[in-house]
Amino acid sequence: MKFITVDTYEKLSRQAANIISAQVIIKPDCVLGLATGSSPLGTYKQLIDWYNKGDIDFSSVTSVNLDEYVGLDGSSNQSYRYFMNKNFFEHINIDINNTFVPNGCADDLVTEGLNYDRHIEELGGIDLQLLGIGLDGHIGFNEPDRYFVKSTHVVDLHESTIKANSRFFANEDEVPKQAITMGMVSIMQAKKILLIASGKAKYDILKKAFYGPITPEIPASILQLHPDITVIYSEN
Ligand code: GLP
Repeated sequence: MKFITVDTYEKLSRQAANIISAQVIIKPDCVLGLATGSSPLGTYKQLIDWYNKGDIDFSSVTSVNLDEYVGLDGSSNQSYRYFMNKNFFEHINIDINNTFVPNGCADDLVTEGLNYDRHIEELGGIDLQLLGIGLDGHIGFNEPDRYFVKSTHVVDLHESTIKANSRFFANEDEVPKQAITMGMVSIMQAKKILLIASGKAKYDILKKAFYGPITPEIPASILQLHPDITVIYSEN
């Protein structure tokens, strides 16, 4: 594991964008696993900037996102599909048909999960998975539990996650109570993982996740077993 600490969010974003752009340059038709939340916003901004300067070409890239709220479709501006379109995809030359986010409005969410995993497998797996980390140690929406869940599945969001994510909604009651998230197999089978976290509030959970015991009670701790993971932490 490579653990990099920097002092500012700008530096974190630049380093993360560097790793992603290196992946795209080395393998133009790569599969990027992408994440939402505040942490990757600066990274996406930096990548857009380099795209505008002509330094990166996303035309052959495929992306698969980690998760989506149950009951929100792409037209809802709190959905993760909307987040990805507005904050990244609409500003680069990725083919929108090659961008995938689990469908939180599917009639049968179990089948949706199985199909999502099968699709990732058919794509040849994820080359580089970008991750954030929740304050309770969740990755994607894999919440603390008694066991690690392997496949893409529906999860009941924990109270603390609903509270943390309510900042994106008018109020806490509007936050969906469930999400569909990639499970640990697709994440752990990614060839490379890049986890980014910023701010002092994330420090304790990072320490527990990467230097404590591997336990489903801290889902991100499973990443200690990954052979090629880089963590970038910025204090501010
Ligand atoms: C959400 C997302 C996660 C993300 C986490 C942390 O719950 N489902 O994928 O890592 O929030 O978000 P932030 O980067 O805003 O702290």
